[in-house]
Amino acid sequence: MRKKIIAGNWKMNKVLSEADQFIEEVVGKTPNDDKVEAIICAPFIFLSSLVEKAKGSNVKIGAQNMHYEENGAFTGEVSPVMLKDLGVTHVVIGHSERREYFAETDELVNKKAHAAFKHELTPIVCVGETLEQREANETMNHVENQVTKALTELTDDQVANTIIAYEPIWAIGTGKTASSEDANEVCTHIRNVIKNITNESTAEKVVIQYGGSVKPANVDELLAQSDIDGALVGGASLEPASFLTLVEAGTK
Ligand code: 13P
Repeated sequence: MRKKIIAGNWKMNKVLSEADQFIEEVVGKTPNDDKVEAIICAPFIFLSSLVEKAKGSNVKIGAQNMHYEENGAFTGEVSPVMLKDLGVTHVVIGHSERREYFAETDELVNKKAHAAFKHELTPIVCVGETLEQREANETMNHVENQVTKALTELTDDQVANTIIAYEPIWAIGTGKTASSEDANEVCTHIRNVIKNITNESTAEKVVIQYGGSVKPANVDELLAQSDIDGALVGGASLEPASFLTLVEAGTK
């Protein structure tokens, strides 16, 4: 039985005092249940404080991006070594906003996935199609291509420990959610792609999240699907009460 993983992706929101207030309100209130894991993926400058405040709780702290190199002349970048040293456990890789606005490619996503495992960080690898691709019936091929490239030359064990977030771009921040059946169909396809790259037992272990306008009102239906094992949540992860409701849904 796969664990449900609910991850908040705060994107470029909050200031430090607001981040601290959020974590103080959430710590101790997440369910103490092996069935669900809660992660907050925050801007780099909040990570140190959030890790400190979340210590001893079951809330994990993740980054939203990183460079794949360990150190060097890469002005403005943050390395996996730095994240690991802080106590960060997860890192979002290849979010569609990074692919679109910062020209991240599948090859870069793959390098970052390798770097994450090298430094014992769990990558949350994002994939998903645009509205044009969905309307042209290219969703399955596009997602297959992204998943295959992102996972290139990872070991089966690393693949099993990768979190994949299927986020249809047209559903992000728009209030439009993919129907739970449509979302599940793509997540099932992703699991089959992983099975073809590795094997059935590895594919069965991979946590596949759905992301795109997930909120308390639709989370139960999404999590009830056979191949949706959690959610990567933007807007609805910014308020403690809403985030806690989403995490609680993972215990059902
Ligand atoms: P929203 O939940 O705000 O649609 O954002 C989804 C997302 O991009 C999470 O990574």
